[in-house]
Amino acid sequence: MYAERVLSGMRPTGALHLGHYHGVLKNWVKLQHEYPCLFFVADWHALTTHYDSPQGIEQSSMDMLIDWLAAGVDPNKATLFIQSKVPEHAELHLLMSMMTPLGWLERVPTYKDQQEKLAGKDLTTYGFLGYPLLMSADILIYRADKVPVGEDQIPHVEFTRELARRFNHMYGREPGFEDKAKEAVKKLGGKKARLYEELRTRFQQDGDKEAVEQAKALLHEIQHLSAVDRERLFGYLEGTGKMILVEPGYLLTPESKMPGLDGQKMSKSYHNTITLRESEESVAKKIKSMPTDTNRVRRTDPGDPARCPVWQLHQVYSDESTRDWVQQGCKSAGIGCIECKQPVIAGILKEQAPMRERAQMYLDDPALVRNIVADGCEKAREYARETMRDVREAMGLAYD
Ligand code: TRP
Ligand code: SF4
Repeated sequence: MYAERVLSGMRPTGALHLGHYHGVLKNWVKLQHEYPCLFFVADWHALTTHYDSPQGIEQSSMDMLIDWLAAGVDPNKATLFIQSKVPEHAELHLLMSMMTPLGWLERVPTYKDQQEKLAGKDLTTYGFLGYPLLMSADILIYRADKVPVGEDQIPHVEFTRELARRFNHMYGREPGFEDKAKEAVKKLGGKKARLYEELRTRFQQDGDKEAVEQAKALLHEIQHLSAVDRERLFGYLEGTGKMILVEPGYLLTPESKMPGLDGQKMSKSYHNTITLRESEESVAKKIKSMPTDTNRVRRTDPGDPARCPVWQLHQVYSDESTRDWVQQGCKSAGIGCIECKQPVIAGILKEQAPMRERAQMYLDDPALVRNIVADGCEKAREYARETMRDVREAMGLAYD
């Protein structure tokens, strides 16, 4: 019904690191060739947890946009924009808040988790509770059917799906839909009507997908049904009248296996990162001071790559012959650790070279970034306005 569309957002957290590149950005770069893509800076989301310190958000947003562009996100292919510059997200958030059960929000697993994790912060705010709803608005306003997210965000996409269903159920119907649908059920005749009702109940109460399929097959079989009644019964079955908001699906981004400087997963909170645009000197210095196999005290002690975080980086950056050289040389004490680290340094620098070059172009001329974002926002707003027209009309606020 709608064109396939990918949408994803990222909070502005400051300089992105190689873990973001290998996890998320490489995937975005690939997707931009396959689908129309919208990628946005979720700056309002940053405020849900950092409402007390908003000062850095603007700078972080610009830095992050440059990182995306540096990584190869192509503004001629993907639409890049900033959430707060598309205020329609807020309008949809508000309108949906009218029909969002409080319990649904309280049950989202990240609600309690994050409150516990960020215990030093008062997150008993309206905005924080509404965070998944804001994310739903981000997705639904573009009628995006594909949302690339990490595993931790899946419950939010599920929440969005349920909300879209509820919305369509509540507002996506002609006047008197329920009565007309019930009339149509009667027309099925006693036995088939009972079967339809039973299957519908099984789906609506237990989410039984098998039941939906059976009911659909039943409707297809029945000859004497008018096209209008058939449509009504399909809509009544799944609780969708007219589809105003599209239930999104997610594209699970495989968890980044990118190891950090200490062998744990690369993450800002572990202080073990290399940023996308880290200077060459700093990359070399960080790799040179990486810990190695603790059994290799002296140069003459043989080591075991399996016990060494440097080896994990070789698995990302080195080809097979270099990896053989490491295995052999380490186990026989044929090479020293400093020597072993050189190809890793070279590999990272090589990966970063085009990124650094692209970033420099934008740093030299910040107007380029501003223009990309202005264009992206304009395009995003066009989609968003279209959806909002339908949403307002469905909620009785058309006024024209
Ligand atoms: N909540 C996401 C995160 O913290 C960011 C985000 C906001 C998002 N809105 C979105 C992701 C919409 C995908 C789609 O990572
Ligand atoms: Fe690690 Fe390489 Fe040193 Fe072996 S030689 S301990 S793999 S850095």
